[in-house]
Amino acid sequence: MIKLGIIHGGLSTEHEVSEMSAKSILENLNKEKYEIHEIFINTYGKWYEVIDGKREEVYNLLWTLKELDVVFPVLHGLWGEDGTIQGMLEMLQIPYVGCGVLASSVGMDKVYTKMIFEKANIPQTPYVYIKKNHDTYLLVNENFDEEELEIPRITEKLKFPMFVKPSNSGSSVGVKKATNMEELKQAIEYAGHYDRKILVEQEIIGREVECAVLDGDEIQASTVGEILSAEEFYTFDAKYNKPESKTVIPANIEEEKIEEIRNLAIKAFKAIDGKGLSRVDFFVEKETNKVYINEINTMPGFTQISMYPKLFESVGVSYSELLDRLIENAMKTK
Ligand SMILES: Nc1ncnc2c1ncn2[C@@H]1O[C@H](COP(=O)(O)OP(=O)(O)O)[C@@H](O)[C@H]1O
Ligand SMILES: [Mg+2]
Repeated sequence: MIKLGIIHGGLSTEHEVSEMSAKSILENLNKEKYEIHEIFINTYGKWYEVIDGKREEVYNLLWTLKELDVVFPVLHGLWGEDGTIQGMLEMLQIPYVGCGVLASSVGMDKVYTKMIFEKANIPQTPYVYIKKNHDTYLLVNENFDEEELEIPRITEKLKFPMFVKPSNSGSSVGVKKATNMEELKQAIEYAGHYDRKILVEQEIIGREVECAVLDGDEIQASTVGEILSAEEFYTFDAKYNKPESKTVIPANIEEEKIEEIRNLAIKAFKAIDGKGLSRVDFFVEKETNKVYINEINTMPGFTQISMYPKLFESVGVSYSELLDRLIENAMKTK
């Protein structure tokens, strides 16, 4: 039996999402193969071991973790998907599912992800990088020089509508669409509550599609799925509280486009030095049919109805088999 640690919950705004992902994972793991050690982190960062459904406080974290053969950190967002827990597991020399420290932190930070995608020549929408310094906002240029932000300067570089996002965010928390100068100002202040780095992007009107990447002997890309959001854009509510939001697999686009997106997904995964798994999200622009990358998620949602497992299911890899492969790969790469 493999001693498998499933860590869930966590300190981030995506705590509940992690809970949902972990619930599905725990249900689908092959109980004959794994001795499961369930570990829960509450929103204050306290660790518990879950034994027979009861939470018992962990007194010696090192000892609890060192007992395990492999860990699946089912954590989304900060302190989970951003390289921090990965760094801890590296220090302890415990194999874990998913990307390493660098890929996790780059993938979590939207501004730095953009810079890497730029370097890899993966098409993306134009953007502006803003930094918050106490109550002032700074515009950061390509050379990392900073000047005090005057909002109209943004409109010299980008056209409305724009999307404003905290650089470190997930599940659309802190993300707002702005259609005029006033909304832009408010959206920047709003994003500033979540992170001191802020990304402003030009909107892409078109389809929103996603591709799953699985690392093994070779890097494999699934087919492409499409998001049909119940709201104007794919907000937190549209993602988790609106059953009207739908996923369509495969996406209703030409075979050629699917191939192009699969190749770009692998390219993006390699560009951030990915390992294990990632879900790579794109837009297909309505007017031009051009593909633009949006982001890479190094620990995508993992409920049974989440896009990542569904994409692999549609190409013949069942949820349980997918978990086996991820865990097997994690143990192999150490
Ligand atoms: N440039 C853009 N053009 C059009 N829609 C966008 C753009 N950026 C974000 N969105 C919308 O906002 C949602 C959340 O943004 P995203 O960058 O994916 O953040 P998160 O990491 O929180 O998922 C996307 O799923 C999409 O619906
Ligand atoms: Mg997203």
